[in-house]
Amino acid sequence: MEAIRTSIADELAEKIRTRQARCGVIGMGYVGLPLAVEFSKIGFHVMGFDVLNSKVEQLNAGTSYIQDVPTSEVAPLVQSGRLQATSDFRQVAEMDTINICVPTPLRKTKDPDMSYIVSACEEIGKYLKPGTLVILESTTYPGTTDELVRPMLERPDRRIGEEIFLCFSPERVDPGNPHFQTKNIPKVVGGTTARCTEMGMLLYAQALDRVVPVTSTQVAEMVKLLENTFRMINIGLVNELAMMCGRMGIDVWEVIDAAATKPFGFMPFYPGPGLGGHCIPIDPFYLSWKSKQAGIEARFIELAGYVNGQMPHFAVDKIQNALNEHAKALKGSRVHILGVAYKRDIDDMRESPAIDVAHLLKERGAKVSYSDPFVPVFRVDKDTEYFSQDPIQASAQADCVVIITNHTEMPYASIVEKATLIVDTRNALKGYRSDKIVRL
Ligand SMILES: NC(=O)c1ccc[n+]([C@@H]2O[C@H](COP(=O)([O-])OP(=O)(O)OC[C@H]3O[C@@H](n4cnc5c(N)ncnc54)[C@H](O)[C@@H]3O)[C@@H](O)[C@H]2O)c1
Repeated sequence: MEAIRTSIADELAEKIRTRQARCGVIGMGYVGLPLAVEFSKIGFHVMGFDVLNSKVEQLNAGTSYIQDVPTSEVAPLVQSGRLQATSDFRQVAEMDTINICVPTPLRKTKDPDMSYIVSACEEIGKYLKPGTLVILESTTYPGTTDELVRPMLERPDRRIGEEIFLCFSPERVDPGNPHFQTKNIPKVVGGTTARCTEMGMLLYAQALDRVVPVTSTQVAEMVKLLENTFRMINIGLVNELAMMCGRMGIDVWEVIDAAATKPFGFMPFYPGPGLGGHCIPIDPFYLSWKSKQAGIEARFIELAGYVNGQMPHFAVDKIQNALNEHAKALKGSRVHILGVAYKRDIDDMRESPAIDVAHLLKERGAKVSYSDPFVPVFRVDKDTEYFSQDPIQASAQADCVVIITNHTEMPYASIVEKATLIVDTRNALKGYRSDKIVRL
């Protein structure tokens, strides 16, 4: 790799090595806050930038609002002055490194919504000083860093690779995962130039266990899309298999568990009531949008998107059929949903399939209620919100209980005992034998 030669680069590298660099993190959400905490923990002075005053205020009071980042970790960092937050972008001028962790959602048309990256870069572009490393971490289509971000930051006195160092490094954080968090998840980094990559690696190597360099920003951008598209398509495959098994009277969970005993060439994925979160249902469409521009239809992505989109309907059909077997109609029945967060043991509702399932149940005339230890209020649409109920009591009163999210701390044994009918879309009741239980 090309050595870091120039005095600007040398100076920045020295500041990073000695932890004298001031680190800015733009967007203090699920990705930005844990990263800011890691940098701050090892001695950097970190400034978190966010447009939401409520987050800035909470952080400056030493309080965390992200489940995986305990307040007990944030408070001492804030007290020591090594972690602060602001919504004043003029402070960008004081930063030596900047990590951009703003949202990248989809528009209704399934096109990438780049507005958050654009507005963050507009602000950064106003105040950025020569001698700064800028790293985009938001998941996005290949080409974003060089085609969109670079022109917004580059000026005659801020040439990329000379006075400004620009990289893309995908964020792989998995909220709620007790084994892998920001520090021990390997970090892929690709720079606009080799010197940029080297600078990005140097920063992450201070705080994270392993850094993996790649040769360009486009490769780094594509790595993230491969990872998430891989998951999305494999989930689409097992969801389709679940529908086939349902038709053939085969237990899809038993099939997957047995297949997973193969020690090579197979990786288990599990079916469910639909995709959730703001990565797996969204990121692959960034790739299909970009690939369409390159003249290639992303047919696997479109197909998996279609199959996964059918799953809330499949789950509701299961509930309807199960009720019919008990001589009840869905219309007018009390259906109690267990778990509404998009995945186990977290409080994140973004794109949760519970929203679609609740909508469909409501549309077909069911009376919906729910329990979720992480989500006290469940907003289905602007006119409908529910409040979490006691899971055992509500299950006992329901005509059908449906498990949408398999939170660990649900009192499953008591629920099985009290409920009359349970549709389990997650195999949360693996090991329970009862005629009351209908599995996906
Ligand atoms: N959450 C995950 O598990 C995860 C995992 C991997 C990658 N990602 C990607 O990381 C990026 C960030 O995701 P997240 O989950 O942290 O989102 P988030 O919504 O939790 O946080 C984003 C933060 O950015 C702030 N923000 C928006 N516009 C801003 C601006 N112009 N300037 C400053 N702050 C601004 C928001 O107020 C919010 O606090 C996305 O591209 C996402 O796809 C997320």
